[in-house]
Amino acid sequence: MSPARAALRCAGWPARAAPSDLRKALVSSFFPSDSSTGPDRPRPWKSSSRRRLARVAAALRAAGCVFAEDEARLLITQAGSPGELERFVRLRVGGLPLEHVLGWAEFCGVRVAVGPGVFVPRRRTEPLAREAARLAGGCPVGSVPVVVDLCCGTGAIAAALAAAVDRPLELYAADIDPVAVDCARRNLASVGGRVYQGDLFTALPESLRGTVNILIANVPYVPTEAIALLPAEAREYEPRVALDGGGDGLDVMRLVAAGAPRWLAPGGHLLVEVGESQAELAQQLMADHGLTSRLVEDEDGDVAALVATRPVRAG
Ligand SMILES: C[S@@+](CC[C@H](N)C(=O)[O-])C[C@H]1O[C@@H](n2cnc3c(N)ncnc32)[C@H](O)[C@@H]1O
Repeated sequence: MSPARAALRCAGWPARAAPSDLRKALVSSFFPSDSSTGPDRPRPWKSSSRRRLARVAAALRAAGCVFAEDEARLLITQAGSPGELERFVRLRVGGLPLEHVLGWAEFCGVRVAVGPGVFVPRRRTEPLAREAARLAGGCPVGSVPVVVDLCCGTGAIAAALAAAVDRPLELYAADIDPVAVDCARRNLASVGGRVYQGDLFTALPESLRGTVNILIANVPYVPTEAIALLPAEAREYEPRVALDGGGDGLDVMRLVAAGAPRWLAPGGHLLVEVGESQAELAQQLMADHGLTSRLVEDEDGDVAALVATRPVRAG
């Protein structure tokens, strides 16, 4: 297997819908005309749920959606009318990620808004978020942990952390992409998160230097040549800046590792997502900048994330 494919495999990119040239025909063959709401069928439109579910699932399955029934249920629940359901199915059959059709994703049990063109939070990032929550919860009693979600996308990690940690947090997030920043602002407003736009650390208030207890950075880490191998959903509907990590996938992580020691409080932690094939190099990167590191595994025992810690005393 090529290094690019190996990196992709460990990055856990799921295959979801396969766009099809036949999508128009596909949708209309499964949605002839909405007979269940016609004059002779005056029941509320969702009442014919079994047949409707079967029709929607069949359309999704034919377009290559692996979890067609689950997706069909979600689309039916979300749609406010038969017309809207048909539009949702058309978009999904055309390859738009499910979360972009729905406008939300579930992450660590939290529902986060996902705007068009924003990176969809992945299940494989949940171990990182849980570890960040554990570390934030363990900060000294009486302190208010300072948490930064750098490269925040929707802000899903910060939102999950705020929901999981049962103590006040000072929450910041930042992203280079203004569309992601808008989305993160929506997701973090209710938990008092402040969201900034800009290139990595330059986006953050200077006053945070040396004070950050938990610095999360789920940076883009797909090697450039592996972008072409991503599912069309990612390639076509997620911005390149959210995916492309440069030649070996670690360009942005290198910059984060270099900057982190100046922003972390003594004893503070940097958490990044890594794939199995990048873990060793990522640990070396952290060591090059005086950070000690350990790997975090998911429930299957696969490498999911890396925690790098600024020593309490430099030495
Ligand atoms: C892999 S996505 C992760 C998004 C989110 N943290 C999550 O886990 O769902 C990477 C994010 O990094 C952002 N990004 C890429 N380069 C950046 C940079 N130089 N400075 C800040 N954000 C950056 C992208 O816009 C994208 O939202």
